[in-house]
Amino acid sequence: MRTEQAVTVARGDYLPYPYAIPSIALEFDLDPARTRVLSRLSIERQPGVPADTPLALKGEDLALVSVAVDGSPIAEGGYTISDGVLRLTGLPAACEVEIVSDCRPAENSTLMGLYVSGASLFTQCEAEGFRRITWFADRPDVMSRYRVTLRGTRADYPLLLSNGNLVDAGDLPDGRHQAVWEDPHPKPCYLFALVAGNLTCRELRTRTRSGRDVLLQVYSDPGSESQTEWALASLERSLRWDEDRFGLELDLDRFMVVAARDFNMGAMENKGLNIFNAAYVLADPDTATDANYLAIEAVIGHEYFHNWTGNRVTCRDWFQLSLKEGLTVFRDQEFTADMMARGQDAAAAASARAVKRIDDVATLRAAQFPEDAGPMAHPIRPESYQEIGNFYTATVYEKGAEVIRMQHTLLGEAGFRAGMDEYFRRHDGQAVTCDDFVDAMESVYRDLHPGRDLSVFRRWYQQAGTPRVSVTLDHDAAAQRCTVTLSQRNPAVGVEKQDASAQEKPPLHIPFALGLLDPQGRALPLTLDGKTQETVLLELTTASAQWTFENIPAQPIPSLLRDFSAPVIVDYPWTDAALALLSAHDGNPFARWEAGQELATRQILANAARHQAGEPLAADPTLVDAWRATLRDPKLDAAYRARALMLPSEKTLAERMQPIDPPALAAARDFLRAELGRQLAQDWRAAYQDNQTEGAFSPAPGPAGRRALKNLSLAYLMAGDAAANQALAETQYRGAANMTDRMGALSALVNEGSGDAVGQAIADFHTRWQHDPLVIDKWFALQATARGTDVAAARALMAHPAFTLRNPNRARALVFQFCLNNARGLHAADGAGYDFWAEQVLALDALNPEVAARLARAMDNWARYAPALRTGMQAALGRVRAHAGLSRNVAEIVAKALD
Ligand code: PHE
Ligand code: ZN
Repeated sequence: MRTEQAVTVARGDYLPYPYAIPSIALEFDLDPARTRVLSRLSIERQPGVPADTPLALKGEDLALVSVAVDGSPIAEGGYTISDGVLRLTGLPAACEVEIVSDCRPAENSTLMGLYVSGASLFTQCEAEGFRRITWFADRPDVMSRYRVTLRGTRADYPLLLSNGNLVDAGDLPDGRHQAVWEDPHPKPCYLFALVAGNLTCRELRTRTRSGRDVLLQVYSDPGSESQTEWALASLERSLRWDEDRFGLELDLDRFMVVAARDFNMGAMENKGLNIFNAAYVLADPDTATDANYLAIEAVIGHEYFHNWTGNRVTCRDWFQLSLKEGLTVFRDQEFTADMMARGQDAAAAASARAVKRIDDVATLRAAQFPEDAGPMAHPIRPESYQEIGNFYTATVYEKGAEVIRMQHTLLGEAGFRAGMDEYFRRHDGQAVTCDDFVDAMESVYRDLHPGRDLSVFRRWYQQAGTPRVSVTLDHDAAAQRCTVTLSQRNPAVGVEKQDASAQEKPPLHIPFALGLLDPQGRALPLTLDGKTQETVLLELTTASAQWTFENIPAQPIPSLLRDFSAPVIVDYPWTDAALALLSAHDGNPFARWEAGQELATRQILANAARHQAGEPLAADPTLVDAWRATLRDPKLDAAYRARALMLPSEKTLAERMQPIDPPALAAARDFLRAELGRQLAQDWRAAYQDNQTEGAFSPAPGPAGRRALKNLSLAYLMAGDAAANQALAETQYRGAANMTDRMGALSALVNEGSGDAVGQAIADFHTRWQHDPLVIDKWFALQATARGTDVAAARALMAHPAFTLRNPNRARALVFQFCLNNARGLHAADGAGYDFWAEQVLALDALNPEVAARLARAMDNWARYAPALRTGMQAALGRVRAHAGLSRNVAEIVAKALD
């Protein structure tokens, strides 16, 4: 096998497709060994296109049976097939093309196209999977009406689902049965789906706000019917929320969600037939944690919201991916925030929103900042790619959502809503670009701010890298005046560095939310543009700018980038005392969290340096006092305190260290955790007792927050003194009434405990849950990331009969967790972690290139690591690159990492 040829696709090369395909009729004879697909396409040559322009259709892993035009078979020679393209020439301006081909679902381990999971058949077409089902114009700007006929045996496939409405069903003379589906909405082929199998269904009927009756359904494996209540309720909440907040209604009579055990990603927004990774559907109190409940609601929302942002208005080409993903992530973030804040008074709602913002920013910093500083750095609208599957990234999704959020901040809620209305007014039913979206927003922005526009803002779509904003404060005591200067830097990153002319990029439009506190921690009123507020929004559109505030008697303490108003890194010369003051008093709960995190970051980095120098580590009392004050503050709710008292993640910390030394960071972070655990033991114990949840389980933010704080307290107690607290963890493990508490206890035992009890708990957990794959995934993940798990232990886990690389969730639970979230294990001094990584990337690549390429990215930032680690990482990458037969997916990742 040869490594697949690297072909780079460039954004500027876009050409419209020369033919329209207004309708497609598909007929499937479903059989896992060999499924026959008949496709009948109506073809219309676009005006002005030369008559000799071939109709080029893509196909992959298909066996062609026949081709006919307007009912007449075309002999071989009447068409060509090369490099995965079927070309037909000499077609009339309008005609019907019929193609019959076979595919082999049971042999399809890529989980793209038509594949088998359990005893059922599923499809996955985004981004370029439809070409594995039939030859087609597999690009998002070709939109067609679908009529789909599914035929199969009733025994194997009692249920036959596709997009849209069921228009016909019945038995066939040969003993099989069939179902005919019609989707009234023209769509790109990446939104096509079918499901065939034996699944159970939970459903409800509801009415849209314009009074249409709709049917909502959640399908899953027989036996899991008790685990779909939350998903169905989340779906109904999503429907209501999109009506209330965006005025967007469901446009179908029926909306289906189907859970698949084998799935490459989180979920897929196929029109009216969403297919989900079962991990984002199934939940009950015994098997799902609070984090699972939250994630299910968010992903159900995300896919539902795609119905408008993605499906009704779709992408012109895959460079525009963030048009639908950034926007839809922003929408699902707001949905979750609204659900968390619902029914609470103003202060509690603000805290709940801050909790959601904290979680999202923590994700951005841990996943997107490193991407933006490494060899895969790309703008949210990439300029080129080899394999589009590699661009479903934290940048396109999470930074893309930040870029939408900044537009929301600049326009305000009402302005943003007006911009969305305008976007749909202009583009409903079309395949469009990111520029089209900004144009709609800009039309509102210009009305709100005459003379201003979003031309500088648009650079967020074309520049990669995390901007740095440095802040200086000049206080004039005599004049009681404070001048704030913001300066931005946008240095070249990733491939940009190869272009000598582009070392420093032009400034961006950065909305920067600022507050000032007096030395006692009280908010100072700030006047800007004639309005006086505690938070002002500074719009930085040049390299540097200044703002002056009056009536500031003493040197103030700045509260910077409130609510994380832009995805940037702030440089400011804090004192620890100022951070401690903000951590106790900042009226903006997000910035208050940030201050504590910054204080902890400084101490961990200082200790990592001490660790490297062989010096003793130390915990500064400022931090311990700040943590104690937060823990004791009666005005803070439990969910917020749980976030504020958590130390920054190793990934976030790594971005602050040059060169990166993960074992030193882990040692420093663990030291501080243990010190906080030991010195605040009384308070942790009190928090543990005060935050018990009793009665029927509820995943609502209140009880979930209490469980988070209780389990964090347990983790600190165990870190501080395992011997003294192990009994507490054991008791919690045995008596746990829900999975959050059971996992919290097991994690404390596995990471900090000792003696037979640890092994017994691991064995007990396995025995209890061996029949539930999603729980066994948690069991593998917990062990893969445990502090004592080295490569040998990871390999031992892989030898467990329940392990398989073929199921992506299982591979992620063990192999990915070890390589991405067990820094000590991966970076073992003997290089065994790197060998393990290379071996698993290659093993996975032979089965599932998309999933393998994600694992391949674990070495992205090798060049920024400490020399002793760097050489081993580079060598492992080199071994993968040299392997014959690499997929295009993995080849792109390792080549970019090494170039
Ligand atoms: N479009 C999906 C989502 O974000 C993600 C996805 C991409 C799923 C590619 C499968 C394959 O909602
Ligand atoms: Zn999405």
